[in-house]
Amino acid sequence: MENSKYSIVYRIIHFAMVILFLLLLGTIFLKFTFLNKSNVAAIIQGFLTSNDLKLSQEQLNDLAKLIRQPMMDWHNYIGYGLVGLFAIRFALPFFGKMKYQNPFDKSLTKRVRFQKILYIVFYVCTIVSLISGVLIEFGSIEYKELMKDIHALSIYYLIPFVVIHIAGVLMGEFTDQKGIISRIVNGTEEEKNL
Ligand code: HEM
Repeated sequence: MENSKYSIVYRIIHFAMVILFLLLLGTIFLKFTFLNKSNVAAIIQGFLTSNDLKLSQEQLNDLAKLIRQPMMDWHNYIGYGLVGLFAIRFALPFFGKMKYQNPFDKSLTKRVRFQKILYIVFYVCTIVSLISGVLIEFGSIEYKELMKDIHALSIYYLIPFVVIHIAGVLMGEFTDQKGIISRIVNGTEEEKNL
């Protein structure tokens, strides 16, 4: 199978995507672990009790949310960054760069076809996450809870995609796509000499 070559534009967009998604996963991880609302509320509760002070559960929850708000602001900024990056990624084929991949090309092996279908599913799911995220902030209050529910589903495809994607890349590296990791990081000799 012919080895793929990745242009500088492809590599920049890809690694911008990797960085933004990892940062986004970081905020999601913190939201569900160390900065979890109940965790933070329990810490505040402990502190208040030892100082003979008292707040209602509702006030504790509000305070816990306020404490993690700066991190959630960053979650939003990273999300807006991804909206911009996706807009660029989908505009690039019109300028002859980062062409849309066709999973139904007859020359593809089963593994590569699966890989390309996976990208389409990933892009569709990410677009739903980005739109629902933007609508939580700027959409009608009437649909806010629905948008929150849809947005919360993001984690169910994001982590499996990253795991399957990296496993697929490693499989390619050790079988018919030797050097694929080096090519997505460094490009190819031909490109460097252009
Ligand atoms: C650091 C580990 C990673 C490596 C080594 C890696 C490597 C690659 C390679 C070699 C391709 C091109 C595959 C092909 O020829 O079809 C690719 C494409 C892609 N990667 Fe990654 N990847 C990594 C992490 C990620 C992460 C964390 C994400 C997003 C969550 C991601 C999203 C994508 C997407 C969406 C494509 C398809 C781009 C397109 O053609 O539109 N990758 N990756």
